[in-house]
Amino acid sequence: MDKELILVIDFGGQYNQLVARRVRESNVYCEIYSYRTDIAKIRAMNPKGIILTGGPNSVYEEGAPTCTKELFEIGCPVLGLCYGAQLMQFVLGGTVEKAPVREYGKTATNFDTTNELFAGIPEQSIVWMSHNDYISKSAPGFKSIANTADCPYAALATEDERPLYAIQFHPEVLHTEYGKEILFNFARKICNCSGDWRMDSFVENAISEIRAKVGEGKVLLALSGGVDSSVLAALLAKAIGKQLTCVFVDHGLLRKNEGDEVEEIFGKSGRFDVNFVRVNAQERYYGKLAGVTEPERKRKIIGEEFIRVFEEEAKKIGTVDFLAQGTIYPDVVESGLGGESAVIKSHHNVGGLPDYVDFKEIIEPLRNLFKDEVRKAGLELGLPEFLVYRQPFPGPGLGIRIIGDVTAEKVRIVQDADYIYREEVDRALAEYKKEHGEDAPWMPNQYFAALSNMRSVGVMGDERTYDYAVVVRAVRTIDFMTAEAAQIPFNVLQTVMSRVINEVPGVNRVLFDCTSKPPGTIELE
Ligand code: XMP
Repeated sequence: MDKELILVIDFGGQYNQLVARRVRESNVYCEIYSYRTDIAKIRAMNPKGIILTGGPNSVYEEGAPTCTKELFEIGCPVLGLCYGAQLMQFVLGGTVEKAPVREYGKTATNFDTTNELFAGIPEQSIVWMSHNDYISKSAPGFKSIANTADCPYAALATEDERPLYAIQFHPEVLHTEYGKEILFNFARKICNCSGDWRMDSFVENAISEIRAKVGEGKVLLALSGGVDSSVLAALLAKAIGKQLTCVFVDHGLLRKNEGDEVEEIFGKSGRFDVNFVRVNAQERYYGKLAGVTEPERKRKIIGEEFIRVFEEEAKKIGTVDFLAQGTIYPDVVESGLGGESAVIKSHHNVGGLPDYVDFKEIIEPLRNLFKDEVRKAGLELGLPEFLVYRQPFPGPGLGIRIIGDVTAEKVRIVQDADYIYREEVDRALAEYKKEHGEDAPWMPNQYFAALSNMRSVGVMGDERTYDYAVVVRAVRTIDFMTAEAAQIPFNVLQTVMSRVINEVPGVNRVLFDCTSKPPGTIELE
């Protein structure tokens, strides 16, 4: 399929995925590539436009990421952002130096709105700056089209026909008031993209691509019940129906009712016409985990056991042609295959590739989508909202939310406490929204209950108790790499405390974990 494409060339900045997302929000398809990508390959992709991202280096340093001037001669419009802007100026003959005043944060900026890049935005607004270097002399043929008190070249454009633009600030972050409009102007007006990239066209195209590729073949999918694998299951179900077998391994470390919900949606309800296999491996997992307290060891056991169970099921099915995986775009970029900002998380997910399962090829139909796009596709495909907007849940599940050894009893405690906690937080969030017409400022991005391995003395009725302490956690975060505790109102915590202690046998204390990340992690193990 030939679609209009904007390339984001990654120089290692922290907001690079955001740049691509903003472009896609303008309904223009966009992909991220490393600055090391060969110029011939870039030309061959025939992009409608190119965006150079920010990055942590100084262009004049030895060994700093760079590009050749051919990149600016391809013919399509090029927009440099922050480091990308400095690089464009530097490579084309301008001067970049350490700035006398470091600009960081929200900055009032004046715009030349006669330039198409700034068409339709006010002459003055706030932008997000974050730079130590600045463009002290522009490259020949460029003029300033925006400035701040400290920065004469907050943005530049050519005086000639070359469609080159440089912006010192970050239009991709929300702090830049008209950033979205600026990137829209670039993608739609300057690059002349028609704006026909939409989720419904994604779903439609993906279905025909899957059909063409799979033909009469059989596909196997490990369904975890998380957002990505569920959306993938729904997509494959629409595309190839019963040629798909979903294997759902219930390891007994899921949230309360979750196993049954997954079975209901993909199995019993008949909503999706696929072969659905649920493997109840709870006892097997608890057996393997008995007495194991070391966190990494627990993660390893859970991962390995998943592979064993999946392998056994796959053997029953026999040879399959394709193994489907729910890889999404941030996984591709983060593993260093796409862009440059390789945030390598030790590979978190359960298992690796089950290499003894007999299949010919892997298919990854969601590989070019961002998380919010995966969610949109899920809704399009008819998945229920509670599933599509599920919070992140780790592959090893409650196994890493129970400090110390895992037992069926402890799993039951965490499941019940977590259910109550989420119910109360959700209720409070809904009430806040109803009353104020907007989301609560303390709205957490992830919240759950966990079990400290601590027991302490309490009193209930007239009886002395010696029971477990449940830990409730709630964090606000953008990227899950850093996080701070969300300020859940105290009355909500009090309700949770009293409900958990009354309704969950074996618990006599509830503790709120207010640790940020770093130094803590979001999960407890
Ligand atoms: P941490 O605990 O590392 O968590 O601060 C960051 C985010 O990653 C999730 N997480 C995992 N996700 N498999 C996953 O799929 C895992 O093993 C895993 N460990 C942590 C965690 O829930 C949080 O959103």
